[in-house]
Amino acid sequence: MKRVAFLCACITAVSASTIAHAQTEPFRPLFHFTPARHWMNDPNGMVFYEGEWHLFYQYNPFGDKWGHMSWGHAVSRDLVRWEHLPLALAEEDGTMIFSGSAVVDWKNTSGLGTNGKPPLVAIYTGHREGRQDQRLAFSNDRGRTWTKVPVPVLDLRLADFRDPKVFWHAATSRWVMTVALPTEQKVRFYTSPNLKQWTFVSDFGPAGATGGAWECPDLFALPVEGGGTKWVLIVSINPGGVAGGSGTQYFTGEFDGTRFVADTGVTDARWADYGADFYAGVSWSDVPKSDGRRVWLGWMSNWLYAQDVPTSPWRSAMTVPRVLTLRRTPDGLRLVQQPVAELEKLRRASPLRFAGGTFAAAARWLASHKDLPPMLDVDMRFTGVSGKAPFSVHVQTAADERTSLSVDPASNRLTLDRTHSGRTAFHRDFSLRHDAPLRIVDGALRLRLLLDASSLEVFALGGETVLTDLIFPSAGGRSLSIASDGAMPTVKSITIHAMRTPQ
Ligand code: FRU
Repeated sequence: MKRVAFLCACITAVSASTIAHAQTEPFRPLFHFTPARHWMNDPNGMVFYEGEWHLFYQYNPFGDKWGHMSWGHAVSRDLVRWEHLPLALAEEDGTMIFSGSAVVDWKNTSGLGTNGKPPLVAIYTGHREGRQDQRLAFSNDRGRTWTKVPVPVLDLRLADFRDPKVFWHAATSRWVMTVALPTEQKVRFYTSPNLKQWTFVSDFGPAGATGGAWECPDLFALPVEGGGTKWVLIVSINPGGVAGGSGTQYFTGEFDGTRFVADTGVTDARWADYGADFYAGVSWSDVPKSDGRRVWLGWMSNWLYAQDVPTSPWRSAMTVPRVLTLRRTPDGLRLVQQPVAELEKLRRASPLRFAGGTFAAAARWLASHKDLPPMLDVDMRFTGVSGKAPFSVHVQTAADERTSLSVDPASNRLTLDRTHSGRTAFHRDFSLRHDAPLRIVDGALRLRLLLDASSLEVFALGGETVLTDLIFPSAGGRSLSIASDGAMPTVKSITIHAMRTPQ
């Protein structure tokens, strides 16, 4: 009974919020996933099965701050429109449901399937005061209902041992689990024939950034642009992230089913996202070969201030789903992220286009298009970007309010400044600038900006440099401008798409 009442409350809240969106929930994103109400953190259990992308998430069913951690659940057929489903896994007998993953057990190795169909198996951390262990739950009805396996499958009697991510390693015909030993800055690898018995095989770390707890690892092979594949180990870290607080780093290397060996010659940490608001990013499991993409998303917040952001009746959004690949650069391999193409369905007809010209002409064109709608997908291409031509792109959200991007080709940096972006005073760590490396080749620069009600995601150089920041601007129209103090690059094109609500 309780569960039914909860579901109805959810659905009502979603449709009501859509209608009254602008008036009552000015910060509710239109094209980013949010729970209808209450607190959310990490994405969990992401798995594709029978045409549905499942997104589970760390959820407090009782309030808008962290607590009573359980798995919320939503599904999508297109990664754009999400349907809220009832709570999948609830806190029970004092054991919270911490982060974890889910897989399709195609060969029914676990024996948890029925009627010849593969079960969905979730592998999550059970959390009690002073103790974390790894547990299973399974579903035989496309993830609609879940049964917990009562005993942990992996228990080291540790206080900090969490966030199992499991995948089928075809070359060795067995399951591999990556799981964090957060306080030791280690990722531990286990293998299993059946998801139930796990054997320790190796540790990775400390390495890269080690200034905080290692959490939410993920491991997968990725195609390299121009040919070949490499393994990528994702490790979230909090605190000690590149923009302060929570951040997501990665390592490239080789994995033979037993041991991850990072590429040599890489000493500094490499970051998936240089903004302050990308954390606990993990990828979808079991994406069909015919699709072939490695898709992930992250929690679009930061433990520094996540519980204080000025949204109600929900807290936190996910980033847009992004496709991952690797690119060879003179400094080694770099992770490349692109918003999934499905998002383009949300672009309204008749985008605004500037077909190319001088910087001054582009600035005048932008000035003639004031009062843009609040949700935008903007593509800007520049040429002639050189050391003499630093410039900025401003997203103006009120007379004295703007979020700015500065391109400094002399130092090869891209800076996102949210110090005047709207509401910033709710936490002292919010009102900051975040900067990222920018590898400008032959003076060419492409910037893609995804602007939603309370976030800006910047994909530079076709996704080689990514910055994700929350912002809490005034309601109303937006305008874009570009400015430069020195020599000016040429503007090859600007395309501004207004975005609509998924329906
Ligand atoms: C990361 C994290 C995980 C943990 C979960 C608890 O944000 O701390 O390590 O499983 O959140 O909600």
